[in-house]
Amino acid sequence: MPIVKATEAAIGRAAALLRQGGLVAFPTETVYGLGGDATNGRAVAAIFAAKGRPSFNPLIVHVPDAAMAGEHALLTPLATRLADAFWPGPLTLVLARAAHSPLSDLVSAGLNSVAIRVPDHPLAQALLRAAQRPLAVPSANRSGHLSPTRAEHVLADFGDGVALILDGGPTAHGLESTVIDARGAEPVLLRPGAVTADQIEAVLGMPLRRATGSSDTPTSPGQLASHYAPRARLRLEATSVKAGEALLAFGPNTPQSGARTINLSPSGDLIEAAANLFAALRALDDGHVDAIAVMPIPGNGLGEAINDRLKRAGAPRG
Ligand code: TXA
Ligand code: MG
Repeated sequence: MPIVKATEAAIGRAAALLRQGGLVAFPTETVYGLGGDATNGRAVAAIFAAKGRPSFNPLIVHVPDAAMAGEHALLTPLATRLADAFWPGPLTLVLARAAHSPLSDLVSAGLNSVAIRVPDHPLAQALLRAAQRPLAVPSANRSGHLSPTRAEHVLADFGDGVALILDGGPTAHGLESTVIDARGAEPVLLRPGAVTADQIEAVLGMPLRRATGSSDTPTSPGQLASHYAPRARLRLEATSVKAGEALLAFGPNTPQSGARTINLSPSGDLIEAAANLFAALRALDDGHVDAIAVMPIPGNGLGEAINDRLKRAGAPRG
């Protein structure tokens, strides 16, 4: 069983594995990631293979601080302002690759941009510093599955396919990082996430444009419509529960029913709801129900990212 408690010795073992081109799963403040040496093309390829991910979908490079980010990417003035405000933390910046960067081309899936983030989790930080390598770290789930917020979720997806899973308990945010294209003078939101649009707008004093997916706008290739797919169908904006459904509830006014119910936040707190989202979907999607009725969740603040993930989870399968 590859899950180990994240002791100093375990971190040392993980760092050694990474330097040899191996893969290690570990917690970040958002979700658990599957990390590999971002300068080693074989390690990056092994990540794609393990996840069963289409190789045109680029990965986020994780580094311990902004200075290291500057070795691999061109930090625009906009990027520096965002980094100052949100790093370390759940913000990913898409930037132009630095010409001399030793990053594998496969990390960016052939694009001339690279997505970089500085995680704010003591374990992720310790591992990055011990490995002394930038790490390519997608969420540690098989492609199309829900992102893992606990070590057991990683094990459920990969079994012994991952040599080492460092256990740091449940993740704090429960939602992936916010992805911003910061190559120009104006930021573009590519993926809503744990840092809200309001927080970014407040820091920059300018509106945050949402990527539309039209050909003139760079979008996050990973934003496939049915990216976060439970087996059960999702019925969104539900105000009652039908026969055969489980209920994903939110807030104090839950419809009365005999259905299996998980409330993301009985008090209606969006931060608590985000942290519980993926674990709740996994728990309700246990093979015993055909569909999950999902109560409406407000779209403000973190609600934007929560509703984005729910829409994807409920999208028709291709
Ligand atoms: O919170 C997170 O970001 C987690 C933890 C483990 O750090 N990682 C994560 O990685 O969510 P992943 O690979 O599951 O999602 C990466 C997202 C995808 O939507 C991908 O398309 C986008 O970032 N992305 C990566 N590189 C990009 C690039 N060069 N241009 C545009 N989007 C990019
Ligand atoms: Mg993912």
